[in-house]
Amino acid sequence: MKTDFLVIGAGMAGLTYSIKVAEKFPEKKLVVVTKGSEYDSNTNYAQGGVAIVQNEGDSFEKHVSDTLIAGDGLCDEKVVRMVVSNGPDCLSEMLNWGVHFDTNKTGDFDLGKEGGHSENRVVHHKDFTGAEISRALIQRLERLENVEFLKHHFVVDLLSDHHLKKMLPENETTCYGAYVLNEKTNEISTILSKITLLSSGGAGQVYGHTTNPEIATGDGLAMAYRIKAKVKEIEFIQFHPTALYHPEETPAFLISEAVRGFGAKLITKNGDKFLHHYDEREELASRDIVARAIDSELKKRGEEYVYLDCTHLDQEKFTAHFPSIKQKCLSLGIDVFKDFIPVLPASHYICGGVSVNMHGQTSIKHLFASGECSQTGLHGANRLASNSLLEAFVYAEKSANKSAELIDKIEFQPTIPDWNAEGTMTPKELVLISHNKKELQELMRNYVGIVRSNERLERARIRLELLYHETEQLYKKATISPQLCELRNMITVAYLIVTHSQKRKENKGGFYNLDLVK
Ligand code: SIN
Repeated sequence: MKTDFLVIGAGMAGLTYSIKVAEKFPEKKLVVVTKGSEYDSNTNYAQGGVAIVQNEGDSFEKHVSDTLIAGDGLCDEKVVRMVVSNGPDCLSEMLNWGVHFDTNKTGDFDLGKEGGHSENRVVHHKDFTGAEISRALIQRLERLENVEFLKHHFVVDLLSDHHLKKMLPENETTCYGAYVLNEKTNEISTILSKITLLSSGGAGQVYGHTTNPEIATGDGLAMAYRIKAKVKEIEFIQFHPTALYHPEETPAFLISEAVRGFGAKLITKNGDKFLHHYDEREELASRDIVARAIDSELKKRGEEYVYLDCTHLDQEKFTAHFPSIKQKCLSLGIDVFKDFIPVLPASHYICGGVSVNMHGQTSIKHLFASGECSQTGLHGANRLASNSLLEAFVYAEKSANKSAELIDKIEFQPTIPDWNAEGTMTPKELVLISHNKKELQELMRNYVGIVRSNERLERARIRLELLYHETEQLYKKATISPQLCELRNMITVAYLIVTHSQKRKENKGGFYNLDLVK
């Protein structure tokens, strides 16, 4: 198959880029590939909303400053200013595309507040903003005739000069499309593209205990790394402070930070408030601080969760703003107005990723990246809540503009060989895959979590090497399956997180190594 534009992933970034490009070039073809259904994306799970300056008392300067403080000195200020100042355009475009955001009685947007924000500035649709955005964007995209949406298709690898047996210096390597596995027929086809956008989302499943859906296995990150794209700051994993404590459930259900912005308080099992010991902003400190505070209380007390107390909050307003959270708790016998909600931190967002410039271009020619798989410089060492959907929109738009400039200068690469299936056996025991996945997740939780140490990181590295070799052997022999590819990708991402952590010599934002405490 040949396509002008190939988009990998169907969250906010992939959908925005696709709509912009396909509407601008109705005569050119765009293919969107997504594993699972069109609604399987991290975007679809986003509760909080999109941080956009709206209020009279608010300003771009305040939003920029909050982002820089959360990022703990590692944000790129130019990028922060560019993204923040594009907020109002993002909002108008979303409204134009039919996304509904909540308004108050006076008709203004009902703005939520989350950790690290000094003002109310989060536009939202109740507590399922991401699902509302996905709905509207998918509907718009599906009306475009030049778009082909390949659902249940898994991208095995990006095509590059390596497939032509050319070893070029990193900055001369080009991306020519991807090998794609049809999950229903098990056939692998070659999709040649002139421009490819990686918008494949996050990698929370590397930790197992995560707010991310099962599909968040870091595939895009791993395949970009395999063709030698530059990956940056991947050691900064954000743990959301308040995932609902419900041990068997995956993904962990999120209790949005907007609930704390609404006035909920964190308390220990015996009812004591504790955040004032850690930060004067208490419940509204940025999430790296709140997550570490909870982790430290749990370790001190030998307990598995703390509580979120919503019992004093306005019931009518709470119900209007957080219907899914209220309903989810009720389904587990927790009445949020009478009972405390048990919560604990869970891995939530990867702040680093495939490094891109301000047009969304990676270090590989004709490969763009946006959304969670990318590293733009916006988040630094810790992402400010609700900045990611905004970033995904802005970088998808920048990537679309740059793609529009380039597309007519690019030719297809016709000499890419078709997939050569080396492996022909089906692994007899799927336990070879499932055991290694569990082992990987457990070691990442125990050794590479909120608090790390040199010894834990080295242990993790050694174990990951073993898992890597076992899995590569299996990959060479076995028939390709999404499960095997995902395991391989998760091991690569985990290895990158560990080795980047080992190289970091200062604690910053969401990165905390006990051996670096001064
Ligand atoms: C939340 O609703 O707490 C999550 C928002 C985000 O991760 O930006």
